[in-house]
Amino acid sequence: MRSPSTPRIVVFGNEKGGTGKSTLAMHLAVALMNRGLSVATVDLDARQGTLSKYVANRKRYKERTGLPIPLPAHHAISSRTDETGYEVELPRVLAETGGHNVVVVDTPGFDTTLSQIGHSFADVIVTPMNDSLIDLDVMSDVDPLKQTIVRPSHYAERVWRAKQLRAKRDGGSIDWVVLRNRLGQLEARNKKLVAKLLAELARRIGFRLVDGIAERVVYRELFLDGLTVEDLAALAKGGALAMSHVAARQELRALMIALGLKDTLETSLISA
Ligand SMILES: Nc1ncnc2c1ncn2[C@@H]1O[C@H](COP(=O)(O)OP(=O)(O)OP(=O)(O)O)[C@@H](O)[C@H]1O
Ligand SMILES: [Mg+2]
Repeated sequence: MRSPSTPRIVVFGNEKGGTGKSTLAMHLAVALMNRGLSVATVDLDARQGTLSKYVANRKRYKERTGLPIPLPAHHAISSRTDETGYEVELPRVLAETGGHNVVVVDTPGFDTTLSQIGHSFADVIVTPMNDSLIDLDVMSDVDPLKQTIVRPSHYAERVWRAKQLRAKRDGGSIDWVVLRNRLGQLEARNKKLVAKLLAELARRIGFRLVDGIAERVVYRELFLDGLTVEDLAALAKGGALAMSHVAARQELRALMIALGLKDTLETSLISA
């Protein structure tokens, strides 16, 4: 059993690159911090380091402006193994995150041992995917004539292995959530087919399909300052927000609820 003070670990993963893992990891971390939670962030994608750069940009912005924006306790981790090949750095860092409410982990868009181990520490795995048959192909093979699922493919197997590792390590279970990202730019027929196939796949391989995130400029324009749409709301100090920013905040709020973080938020506010 994990103690009530153990942080909830949310891992963003998908073997398909460029689906929004790092962007949504940062947006979730800031949304939680702006609601008073203490958050640690972990970047397992040392080569690209998008989340690490996002956090570094935020730190610089804070120093430059003196604005009171919260920073996560950030860790960029590279693979470091002991003589038996066991990853040692990640478990060591995670063991030090005890004082935080939530740990948000970003992983690369390809398979590595470190990423596999990272997935196995998750309470929730969040898989963002673009609303396209190419992204669906990473999750499952689709029969092109019947337009049905033939079999789950490698990423689904990776999540399955992570679930087994986690169960073996501490008896815990992993909630797998798939989220359609950048919704809105595709034609309706393709979208309907992806939705149908995802619903079928969810039943077969056991993930939850949650409300998606729309394609919005605001999700990509704030990176250089390390800000997110949540900061715009906080910095506006009650001033008017553009409609698309309001909608983006609602999407993030729905995501926090869908990830089961509502209880963490309520508990932390009660004990604050
Ligand atoms: N909802 C969105 N609306 C608009 N742009 C988005 C949205 N989500 C992500 N993006 C943009 O999509 C691109 C890919 O996002 P990101 O780098 O977060 O993906 P990733 O899955 O972490 O990629 P990688 O696998 O390479 O690490 C970036 O340019 C990002 O700004
Ligand atoms: Mg990334």
